[in-house]
Amino acid sequence: EKGKYRHFMQKEIFEQPTVVAQTLRSYLRPGEQRVALPQIDFDITAIDRITIVACGTSYYAGLVAKYWFEQFARVPVDIDFASEFRYREPILPKGGLALFISQSGETADTLAALQHCKKQGQVIASVVNVPTSSMARESDLLLPTHAGPEIGVASTKAFTCQLAVLAALAAHFAVKKGLLNRNEEAIIVEHLLEAPACLNAALDHDEEIAEMAHLIAPARDVLYLGRGADFPLALEGALKLKEISYIHAEGYASGEMKHGPIALIDDKVPVIVLAPSGPLFEKTVSNMQEVQARGGKVVLISDKQGIEQAGEDCMAVIEMPKVHPLIAPLVYAVPVQLLAYHVAVAKGTDVDQPRNLAKSVTVE
Ligand code: M6R
Repeated sequence: EKGKYRHFMQKEIFEQPTVVAQTLRSYLRPGEQRVALPQIDFDITAIDRITIVACGTSYYAGLVAKYWFEQFARVPVDIDFASEFRYREPILPKGGLALFISQSGETADTLAALQHCKKQGQVIASVVNVPTSSMARESDLLLPTHAGPEIGVASTKAFTCQLAVLAALAAHFAVKKGLLNRNEEAIIVEHLLEAPACLNAALDHDEEIAEMAHLIAPARDVLYLGRGADFPLALEGALKLKEISYIHAEGYASGEMKHGPIALIDDKVPVIVLAPSGPLFEKTVSNMQEVQARGGKVVLISDKQGIEQAGEDCMAVIEMPKVHPLIAPLVYAVPVQLLAYHVAVAKGTDVDQPRNLAKSVTVE
């Protein structure tokens, strides 16, 4: 049931504070400020490489997790689209961990990749939203997201719940490997617990984003830029816009602009820049200014400090709460989802059932 909402996608976007909190409850012990994962019966410290495989939005969640695993747990991560992974004869490390991410748990390519890794003797973990799914059943370690049924074809709440689980998992690895002490673990747990309130604060910008959508709706092409763990969000923003509004959109690592895509820039191509203030801010802003110098129309998504510093010449700004870099990918997912949603509404497309797409891709 859609309740007071016009579309399932809209309802699911607004459910995020609740379902992320619900998901985090199974992976954190707030009272003790500890990460608490389900029983893991293999030695985490012996895992020296993780292979992540997924498709679509779930793949982008995996890409964010790569930054986290490498930064916090110092574990190298290989990541690939399931459809590529299956056919490229990947070299799997002995005793490695293969991690599959899927809302449905039934995506054909991801499931086949899982079965391949199982045959190769990898430890199989999966982050899935449907606990009775094939992937859930075939995994050694099941890490469920508690997003509830996701009806909209465009994945939203499953994505932020996947990020919540993956952040907890990366922190768990870091703790087990002795890379986070008690105090640092407590700080990470505290930041993760702030996520639902920050998601709510991000949702408060709904009306403003609905108005802004009219600036984007006439565009033929849109670019999204981000850096570090927010780069996958640029990819995710572009995917959301493409699939429901049918506007051509691309996500780029902001530093890649000058290696080609900047040639596309003129005053008809809106550029959405995801730049929370923090260690990568200055670099992203300098890429943004290169875009502006060529007449590009920028929508800057940042916090108060970032907007004060760099918002002046932008076509529009969206102010996010100030967040720890760890939870920025969760929080910044909201404005890109809302922007895609409102552009699609403005264009009158079928938001919940976009053309040519199925909710669960069970064919190869
Ligand atoms: O069920 P899964 O997470 O395995 O699905 C993967 C993709 O098909 C899915 O994320 C797709 O890209 C969505 N339509 C994105 O919004």
